[in-house]
Amino acid sequence: MPAQLIDGNALAKKIRAEVAGRTRALKARGVQPCLAIILVGEDPASQVYTKHKVNDSTETGLKATLETYPADLSEEKLLARIRELNADKSVHGILVQLPLPRHMDSGKVIEAISPAKDVDGFHVASAGALVTGQPGFWPCTPYGCLKMLEDIGYDLRGKHAVVIGRSNIVGKPMALMLLQKNATVTICHSATKDLAAHTRQADVVVAAVGKRNVLTADMVKPGAVVIDVGMNRNEAGKLCGDVDFEGVKEVAGWITPVPGGVGPMTRAMLLVNTLEAAERAAA
Ligand code: GUN
Repeated sequence: MPAQLIDGNALAKKIRAEVAGRTRALKARGVQPCLAIILVGEDPASQVYTKHKVNDSTETGLKATLETYPADLSEEKLLARIRELNADKSVHGILVQLPLPRHMDSGKVIEAISPAKDVDGFHVASAGALVTGQPGFWPCTPYGCLKMLEDIGYDLRGKHAVVIGRSNIVGKPMALMLLQKNATVTICHSATKDLAAHTRQADVVVAAVGKRNVLTADMVKPGAVVIDVGMNRNEAGKLCGDVDFEGVKEVAGWITPVPGGVGPMTRAMLLVNTLEAAERAAA
């Protein structure tokens, strides 16, 4: 396999250790970083994700609280609780797990979170800060991808990066982060005419579509860095990404595996953002 593996588990572990160290320093100044997580309803995947977020936090010395509400909670009650958490000085980060029940307007709920506590980086103010290069919180998944590129010592300046996918939480912020690092960026999506023509020119490809085999070996320039954000299941129920890993690893220079690539980095960056929120509040 010519491609080198980018080990998300190993890097996430290193980042968690850094977070633990900075958290100890903050605690020594009398500040306990705290993340408030809200889960509405009983979606089994969301229950697992929120439990991971609590465990990751406590393992690194952060405090995390998980508030669970029945699926029929009114939007008004949820907004009122968010307003309370916004005003609570002992809470530094607020995360409302998505998806929310259908009767709620997710946009309205996210906009209710104070941008200073928006550790998911989903608020329009956070998105605006990323666009304009001002300080704010960056969404955890693309931020984790960027950290992986940094960790392999990859200099993005002048490189051609192709992002496949234009979601608000991965594709668009990823493109903006790559742009901020001076890459030339192309965003491809479902209406892109000849995807392979774009990806074959790319020094870096980030696949974030949510569909298997979106990127195959014939679509990759030899030596390119390939970051796979996808989380899918194959016919056998095995976890796989958007990239045909077996084929692409023979062509790429660097590649992230699924599982063990972007996933653990997303979790680690939530801790970084929460700690950062606490540090900013204490500054
Ligand atoms: N649901 C799936 N992923 C996420 C995430 O990163 N943040 C929130 N709030 N909800 C999610």
